[in-house]
Amino acid sequence: MSTHAGAGSAPRELLGGVRVAPSILSADFGRLREQVAEVLQAGARVIHVDVMDGHFVPPITVGPLIVEALSELVRDAGGALEVHLMIERPERQVSAFAAAGAHSITFHAEATPHVAYTANLIRESGACVGVAINPGTPVGALAEVADILDVALCMTVNPGWGGQPFIAHSLAKLPRLRALVGEGVGVEVDGGIDAQTAPGCLQAGASLFVAGSAVFHSADPGEAYLEIARSVDAE
Ligand code: DX5
Ligand code: ZN
Repeated sequence: MSTHAGAGSAPRELLGGVRVAPSILSADFGRLREQVAEVLQAGARVIHVDVMDGHFVPPITVGPLIVEALSELVRDAGGALEVHLMIERPERQVSAFAAAGAHSITFHAEATPHVAYTANLIRESGACVGVAINPGTPVGALAEVADILDVALCMTVNPGWGGQPFIAHSLAKLPRLRALVGEGVGVEVDGGIDAQTAPGCLQAGASLFVAGSAVFHSADPGEAYLEIARSVDAE
């Protein structure tokens, strides 16, 4: 069990509500702490950390050290660090991210033959459990683990890069995903989300809206966060 132990029930409540989660992938890493503080100040409570391994997706990004570096800042603001693992064999990395202070860990159903095992491992670590599916993966890939999810993540671009256009076909998957997991579970969209695309996702059943470039490529990330939050009437 991590010493951070998923921080009790608070992150679960955060992930169940309507929220915009700024993704630090598009932040200025030379000023990372400052940029995260700006969006927290504006009201963001879920901070999305994209972990890429150069195998599941071509780029390599960050690991547990960055999660640890942000953990206290986010926790002190009453927020949650949501780690999105775009890595092969995520089960091998769960304990390191939980120990680094991840409140929630999401892995890809395509990245391991052991989806249920990995989901349970995350639950045992004390973190909230998320499973993601790529645009080409059917919603049914989550059917057998639907009962243990805190977050079901529907990729709305192919994973690997920020700044890609929203794949409109994703909208057809969201009502089926919501029906599968029920209410109170986060149905998350990630990729190409901004104040124009978020409302349609909300209508289709999404409740968690990851936004990277729309927030951090803005001159005022706090205001950009607020614009998206208002578009979906986020908490
Ligand atoms: C992409 C990542 C996203 C990324 C989204 O693979 O999972 O979280 O930051 O970036 P935008 O919001 O720019 O599409
Ligand atoms: Zn992501």
